[in-house]
Amino acid sequence: MDEFFTVDAVEEAVSAIKAQTALEPRVGLILGSGLSPLAEAVNDAVRIRFADIPHFPVSTVKGHQGRLVIGLLEGVPVVVMQGRAHYYEGYSMARIALTIRTMALLGAQVLIVTNAAGGLNHTYRTGEVMVVRDHINLIGMAGLSPLRGPNLEAFGPRFPGMNDAYDPQLQEAARAIALEARIPFQQGVYICLAGPNFETPADVRFLRAIGADAVGMSTVPEVITARHSGLRVLGLSGITNTLAGEAGGPTPDHEEVLEAAKILGPRLETIIRGILRQL
Ligand code: HPA
Repeated sequence: MDEFFTVDAVEEAVSAIKAQTALEPRVGLILGSGLSPLAEAVNDAVRIRFADIPHFPVSTVKGHQGRLVIGLLEGVPVVVMQGRAHYYEGYSMARIALTIRTMALLGAQVLIVTNAAGGLNHTYRTGEVMVVRDHINLIGMAGLSPLRGPNLEAFGPRFPGMNDAYDPQLQEAARAIALEARIPFQQGVYICLAGPNFETPADVRFLRAIGADAVGMSTVPEVITARHSGLRVLGLSGITNTLAGEAGGPTPDHEEVLEAAKILGPRLETIIRGILRQL
């Protein structure tokens, strides 16, 4: 069933959050599968369960906590989504958009999004960080857009552009930090599928052929909403597994993804902290 949220609904979520903290976050952070420990490091933090914020989705996936954490990281006021909502859990794209719009109304001007992703590019290795250069909105091409429905002019235009969806300056800064810290990194194109199943070998060959370097089940709807609202975006994919694309190749599983995320967590944290120090 279609559902759309009004500006009033976003304002209800914002009011519930503002009742708990006077801090005005400048940066929004979304932490993907197994990458949530960074949220524990936020100073002077107010933690609000998604369940206690009107209209917020309650995340159900293992490795996702489902809390909004507002506080200071590297001295910068941040709002962190510790765990995110995925379309495959049954949430509408509109509800995913509502979480981003809430961060925008709270004051965030930059969104840093992390995710766990499977490496499609043959040169990619598990444990590498991919700085997202661009994305392919495959689920959007199939009709699933967070911006579908009446346009909320208060946030952005009906037909937002998606050139430079991933801020070139933030990409360059992330690259420099990774180099300096000797974190193995790549720069590439992320593609979003609905999931929750992993890809068939034929899927993998297709995704590679159309120009994707890494595949996951999130991020793109959030980035589109953030860009619609005028936020600058940095996307970081933790490569948790590689995809062979040959019949008989290894099948990824969620435990493997969470295992690799343990190595990736500190690497992503280093990059995120470095970016925050520069803002
Ligand atoms: N495919 C899709 N999503 C993922 C993968 C994958 O191999 N790894 C982590 N998220």
